[in-house]
Amino acid sequence: MPDLDSQGHASKCLGIAGEEAERTLFEALIKKVPLEQIIVKTGMPGLDLVPSNLRMSTIDLSLMPLAAREFRLRNALKEIEAEYDYAVLDAPPSFGLLNLNALMAAHDLFVPVLADFLSFHGLKLLFETVHSLEEDLEHVLDHIFIVVNAYNATFRIAKEAREALEKHYTEFLLKQVIRQCTKFAQASSEGIPIFAYDPESKGARDIQGVLDEVRERIGDPVKLKLAPAAGPRKVVEA
Ligand SMILES: Nc1ncnc2c1ncn2[C@@H]1O[C@H](COP(=O)(O)OP(=O)(O)OP(=O)(O)O)[C@@H](O)[C@H]1O
Ligand SMILES: [Mg+2]
Repeated sequence: MPDLDSQGHASKCLGIAGEEAERTLFEALIKKVPLEQIIVKTGMPGLDLVPSNLRMSTIDLSLMPLAAREFRLRNALKEIEAEYDYAVLDAPPSFGLLNLNALMAAHDLFVPVLADFLSFHGLKLLFETVHSLEEDLEHVLDHIFIVVNAYNATFRIAKEAREALEKHYTEFLLKQVIRQCTKFAQASSEGIPIFAYDPESKGARDIQGVLDEVRERIGDPVKLKLAPAAGPRKVVEA
């Protein structure tokens, strides 16, 4: 899991302090240090991390003058793709060169949104970016999934926002929402995933529901993993 966010929250949620990491994705993308020298093991079997810290906050400026600046992440991941089945890229909420790198490296895009009307603006921008990527850089994503997070059905505005999403983004919106659940904050403060913290919580059950719905729509991910032609799957979470 490459952490692309300079806040390093994905790293922290996995119990790894990004500030202490000597090298981050910055060195891989800017200085071409091989990812295998940057990857750290997490406490979970089969899950390795490319850590992030505040140094990543200026990466767009450093990418700007470089050759193949949109393709640096894709190229870096190519070197290690034989070792992994999936890469999950945790992206920051921005539209700079780093996220463009993430989109160019990804097959599938997961977009978590809050059920409020501000999210519509962000979604519109994101879809414009994805379209320009298709036109200008000839990269077409296989799937885009929008998932409503921190949903509270007792708020009328949340229901209305969800209905509006259903209407405007019908083909992308997942039916399964992730409800508000205090266990997320507790799990992240302990640096473990929700499934390890409380697998029976609303949050864990909803995320499982999201995975099941995605599997229903695009097939069994195990088969995807094993399909040699498809190669390792990369998923970006924007
Ligand atoms: N469904 C939810 N219910 C309650 N709290 C949530 C939920 N989803 C996220 N949170 C809280 O918000 C925090 C940040 O969530 P998340 O990492 O999904 O958001 P983000 O937009 O990527 O933010 P960042 O990466 O900047 O922290 C979580 O650690 C958790 O405390
Ligand atoms: Mg985040």
